[in-house]
Amino acid sequence: MSCIDPILLNDWYIVGKAEDIQPGTIKPVRLLGEDIVVWRGSSLESPVLAWQDWCPHRGVPLSLGKIVGDRLACRYHGWQYDKTGQCVCVPSLPTQSPPVNAHVKTYKCQESSGYIWANLGDFPRQLPAFPNNPDHRQFVAEPYYISSSPFRVMENNLDMSHPAFLHEGTIGDPNFPLVEDYEVNAEKDRIVIRNIQSWQVGANYTNIKTLSKINISSLIINYPLSMTAVKEIEDSNEKIYVFINITPIEEEKSVMWISFAMNYGHEIAESEMQTYTDKVFREDVFILESQRPARLPLLYQKDTDPQWPPEVHVRCDKASVVYRRWLKSLGITFGVC
Ligand code: FES
Ligand code: CO
Repeated sequence: MSCIDPILLNDWYIVGKAEDIQPGTIKPVRLLGEDIVVWRGSSLESPVLAWQDWCPHRGVPLSLGKIVGDRLACRYHGWQYDKTGQCVCVPSLPTQSPPVNAHVKTYKCQESSGYIWANLGDFPRQLPAFPNNPDHRQFVAEPYYISSSPFRVMENNLDMSHPAFLHEGTIGDPNFPLVEDYEVNAEKDRIVIRNIQSWQVGANYTNIKTLSKINISSLIINYPLSMTAVKEIEDSNEKIYVFINITPIEEEKSVMWISFAMNYGHEIAESEMQTYTDKVFREDVFILESQRPARLPLLYQKDTDPQWPPEVHVRCDKASVVYRRWLKSLGITFGVC
């Protein structure tokens, strides 16, 4: 754990959709190479909690246990832990106080924007937020598990020349591959990209397959693995706000979480949105898992792996180039090469 880059350690990551972690839920998750148990006691007021998934008695994962009221009970000997992580009951010794050092390592955890977020660091940064406009049609997609570096996954969302080819027929048309020049600026704490114009079919995530010019009027990366974007469809008033967060499971394993807020489409069924999102993003997952090396190559590496010479960039890749340079300046070493 200590070898994880501090900036990554102190960021927040999604560990589940809020609706999936109801009172009485125990969910094992992996985050930055650590096993975590996310759970909520059985009452409606029970807070959502994230702990190291490890019982201090004999090292059994607490996620194998069960919830007893507002406590988590270990499967092996039934020791019970209260919401602070302290053992408050050793059933085999009912008349004695439990050992004070029987305390589970706890992490920060909270609910926001339809998700449960966990933070393993001691100096947490601000939580990424998605503007919540009640007039918008909100959609929180099911997660995508991807065997690739979280930074490869993130970079794919800045890559504007792939939809025409990889997403041919879903949102792309290879006869319209042009990506016009756009603005990209690395600021101290974020990258701001503006006015990426290209062509898409079915750009509004409905089954109407018209070819339209789209403008990603803003795409902002505030955290290494979190971004918000606004996609506007020319000759319509339709706007789609996109919130994408990548959870780093391991250096070469990730989960991608996508939310949309649209100023139209209140009538589109949840299942239809999910089917459409799956069609598009499974194409991304397929290609992401094929990339070599699986870790994102940063720029100007002294010791380039002779098996994988430096990748070649062209003008429309400048968002990726700026992202890689920014990661390097932040001192990221996890999931990159
Ligand atoms: Fe958890 Fe013994 S290992 S109670
Ligand atoms: Co794609």
